[in-house]
Amino acid sequence: MFQLDPELSHNVALHSMNLASALGVNKLLGAEKLSDPVQVMGINFPNRVGLAAGLDKNGIAVDGMSEMGFGFVEVGTVTPRPQDGNPKPRIFRLPEQRAIINRMGFNNDGVDTLLSNLDKSRYKGVLGINIGKNKDTPNENANDDYLYCLRKVYGRASYITVNVSSPNTPGLRTLQYGESLNSLLDALKSEQAKLAKFHDRYVPIAVKIAPDMTDEELVLVAASLKSYEMDGVIATNTTLSREGVEGLEYADEAGGLSGAPVRNKSTKVIRTLANELDGALPIIGVGGITEGFDAAEKIEAGASLVQIYSGFIYRGPQLVTDSVRAIQQLAE
Ligand SMILES: Cc1cc2nc3c(=O)[nH]c(=O)nc-3n(C[C@H](O)[C@H](O)[C@H](O)COP(=O)(O)O)c2cc1C
Repeated sequence: MFQLDPELSHNVALHSMNLASALGVNKLLGAEKLSDPVQVMGINFPNRVGLAAGLDKNGIAVDGMSEMGFGFVEVGTVTPRPQDGNPKPRIFRLPEQRAIINRMGFNNDGVDTLLSNLDKSRYKGVLGINIGKNKDTPNENANDDYLYCLRKVYGRASYITVNVSSPNTPGLRTLQYGESLNSLLDALKSEQAKLAKFHDRYVPIAVKIAPDMTDEELVLVAASLKSYEMDGVIATNTTLSREGVEGLEYADEAGGLSGAPVRNKSTKVIRTLANELDGALPIIGVGGITEGFDAAEKIEAGASLVQIYSGFIYRGPQLVTDSVRAIQQLAE
């Protein structure tokens, strides 16, 4: 697969996954789902290691992914209307550093298609649905896009992630700050209360943030998350920094950097958040997990759950079981 263009190999793998699942092949090749149950955000997770958003944007491979040992799967980012994303090529592998640079730009088939894909899945486990805004929706109207997706996915999700941290939608990251953030969180919380009544089920909302904030900015974000009683925070998305990949092929491509080079940055964000939040809401740690040790490190820094994207591309399901085992060992 590594001989193919990264986006092509990605799509081939994703499309083959459900077929392999239907044929029972994953059970032979995939990872055993290790049990290490935990309750977070009021949800029972079979283990603490999940698939991060962006790999299965349209929810076409949930059955296959759930057979890779993950305790939970997050699909999306999905937007109200379908959109193409940025021109290709837009994913670059930097294997020397187990890293990826991407500038996909929320390519996805839209929230209605995501829901009809999920209807076809057999998966009954914990499902996160990650929502965003369309590129051509001006930031002043961003709240409408998030609310639209929230209403659409509420009945199907175990939890919902609000992505305000992709670097590839111009202006999106400004929603992480000040009045824009507060107005978004306020709108989401009041809609969540209405939806909880309507569906007779409370679906937690987590906010996904970038690793590129100063400590002062993080303190303000943590205060907003607490004051609006958000249910969780996912830290972190990809970084704009190129620290650790300088001089490598593709290092100067525009987009977000993920994989091993973002590991320390995101762990540092988790530590600062853990300190500021003081248990008020749980942290889901993501960024640069490529060894079991890295997953355990995120838990030690204050995360309750972890997620993996780039490490899974480089190491496959073995990394998932390694991560669950390393986290289990912390408790021993
Ligand atoms: C190709 C690619 C696409 C991604 N797309 C999304 C996305 O749509 N939504 C999102 O919240 N995060 C997205 N991410 C970010 C990941 O979910 C994760 O936060 C980040 O890559 C750091 O974790 P990692 O080092 O394990 O990859 C994407 C990452 C990659 C590499």
